Order: sequence, then structure tokens, then C-alpha cells
Amino acid sequence: MRAAIYDRHGPATQVLRVVDIERPEPGPGEVRVKIECSGVNPTDWKARGGVTPRPMGGFQIPHHDGAGVIDAVGEGVDPGRIGQRVWIYLAAAGRQWGTAAEWTVVPANQAVPLPDGVSAELGASLGVPAMTAHRCLFADGPIDGRTILVAGGAGAVGHFAIQLAKFFGARVVTTVSSQEKAELAKNAGADLVVNYRESSAADEISSFGRVDRVIEVALGANLQLDLAVISPGGVIVTYAADGNDPMLPVRAFMSANLVLRFVLLYGFPTEALKQAAKEITAALTAGALTELPLHKFSLEDIAAAHEAVEHGAVGKVLVVPN
Ligand SMILES: NC(=O)c1ccc[n+]([C@@H]2O[C@H](COP(=O)([O-])OP(=O)(O)OC[C@H]3O[C@@H](n4cnc5c(N)ncnc54)[C@H](OP(=O)(O)O)[C@@H]3O)[C@@H](O)[C@H]2O)c1
Repeated sequence: MRAAIYDRHGPATQVLRVVDIERPEPGPGEVRVKIECSGVNPTDWKARGGVTPRPMGGFQIPHHDGAGVIDAVGEGVDPGRIGQRVWIYLAAAGRQWGTAAEWTVVPANQAVPLPDGVSAELGASLGVPAMTAHRCLFADGPIDGRTILVAGGAGAVGHFAIQLAKFFGARVVTTVSSQEKAELAKNAGADLVVNYRESSAADEISSFGRVDRVIEVALGANLQLDLAVISPGGVIVTYAADGNDPMLPVRAFMSANLVLRFVLLYGFPTEALKQAAKEITAALTAGALTELPLHKFSLEDIAAAHEAVEHGAVGKVLVVPN
């Protein structure tokens, strides 16, 4: 099969190669998926570039996310799954077989049935962003009727945080830095969109009511804003490390009985992953999740796809193997 691989860390154009390798067979408990679309996330270029290196056995096919059709199953997996359209999460976590190839093999539970009518593009956009958004929203309990602030609502995680929060009954205010991103966040379904670069941001958010939970992409930059708008007993959930670590004002956190939570997809409890896959699929079935603007690259152009994500492309970068 054709596959993109790297066997050392470095810049995309220097270490990514597209080669012919033997197509993998599914082992016990695994399925093989013919890939229609492979989704690229920041974690993929950070792992490849050596910023956050992950263990590598010989070579690595990058990308956790994808969508396609199951064409073979391993021992112990229902053969009735052959022909099923699926979305994939964490394909490359501790495994060689990422989705940047014509086929991948994953544990059967990481290939989740794609509801009828859902595009492969949307399916390949879900894994890292939607699973992370789900965990950020639900790690501290139900969100029905709660007010959620999603920082960076036009980002990949932010987009699904808005849509999942709305689907599960929350009120959502989100922040962006431009008119273009405001449109994306509005289209995603946010009730209120605020430009965080304006000095009025805290007042605008507060006019919407006190915030119960913040889903935070830039804690260092936004801590003062978050503290200005959060309710006593509220939770700030941080999922990104942008290198700008804040000095924590302990008394402000303590006085308001706040919780500061950190999440990293690679360590989510198994039960949380299972619940997230189930509830994301429910939202998909109800038509509550949509695609961001798409930027598609051929497998041969995978280095350009990585560079697009690295440089902060607005929307979703996908690699198409055929
Ligand atoms: N912990 C985990 O498991 C996990 C999972 C997924 C992603 N991540 C990390 O989370 C980060 C975002 O991932 P992504 O895929 O969503 O990236 P993305 O699609 O590029 O979105 C990032 C968004 O953050 C916004 N942003 C940047 N600075 C901001 C600020 N000060 N306030 C509000 N918004 C701000 C950006 O817009 P503007 O620059 O225009 O403001 C952009 O819309 C990456 O660092 C990624 O590695 C971590």
C-alpha cells in the first residue's frame, strides 16, 4: 500500500516520505480500514517534529484520525463489521499504523460506526478534536443548563466544544480574534461570540451571565479574563500548552472555590473514551456536528498538509490517500 512514513524527527519536508509498504493484516481484536480521509492535528506535527516525541518502533505512519470502510477483521471481531463505514480515533497512539496511508489497522473499538449520510470528511475531523472537546465538557459532570465559555471557538477543538455543548443543553459563549473566525463560531451555534482582543471582552461575556466552565486553549493569555467571568465553584479546563505558562493567583482560585483541570487525550480513562465515542456519534446522528472549512491534500503532499497545520490553517486539514 502507499503510506506516508517517518523514521526520525524533523521538519516535514525532510522526514516525511511516501513509500510502498506491505499492507497490514488485522490482529486479534482489530479491524482493517480502507482510508477515505485522514485528519491532521497539531499533535501530529508536534510528534513528527520532535516537539512532543512519541515512542517510535522502526517507522511511524502519522495521524490518529480518519474515516473509511472496514475491509477485514481480526480474530474475535464480528465479521458482520466488514463493509461498515467508520470514524477512527487514536490510530497512531503507541502504534505504527496511523491513518496517513491507504489502509490502517486499529483496535475494533477505535473504529466507530459512522451514521448514514455523514461524510468521510466530517468523520476524519472528529477523533482528536471532538474526543478532547467532549472530555473537557464532561469531566466535571453534566452540562445541561450550564453556561460554558469556549476560548478559541473557531479552532478544531473549540468548534466541537461549541457544538457538543449546545447539543447537550448548555448555553455557549465563545471567543475569537477576527471577523472570519466569528462567522465560523456563530455558524457552529455559539449563542454569543466575543473578540477576546477587545478591552470590553470581560463585560460582554459577563452580560451573558456568570460562566460555570471554561474550555481553555490559552490559559496563560486568558487567565485574567477567565477569572473575571467565572462563577464561584466554576471549573477551568485546560487542554493546550502554548508555552506561555501563567503565574497562578492561588488566593483568587481559593476564594472562589475554583477547579483548574488539565486534560490530555493520550491519558483519558477508557470509560471516558467509550462514553465520548458514543455521545459524539449520537450528536452526529442528530446532525448536530458540522465540518469546518476543509483544506484537502493528496498523500503525496503530506508535508504541505503538516506545514498548513503548523502555520495555523483556519479550518480542517485533511489528507486523501487516493
Ligand atoms: N490536551 C489534548 O489532549 C489536546 C487535544 C487536542 C488539541 N490539543 C492542543 O490544543 C491546541 C489547539 O488545537 P486545535 O486543533 O483546536 O488547533 P486550531 O484548530 O489551530 O485552533 C486553535 C485556536 O485557538 C485560538 N487561540 C489562540 N490563542 C488564543 C487566545 N489567547 N484566546 C482564545 N483563542 C485563542 C486560535 O485562534 P486565534 O489565534 O485567532 O485567536 C485558533 O482558533 C493545540 O496546541 C493542540 O496541540 C491538545
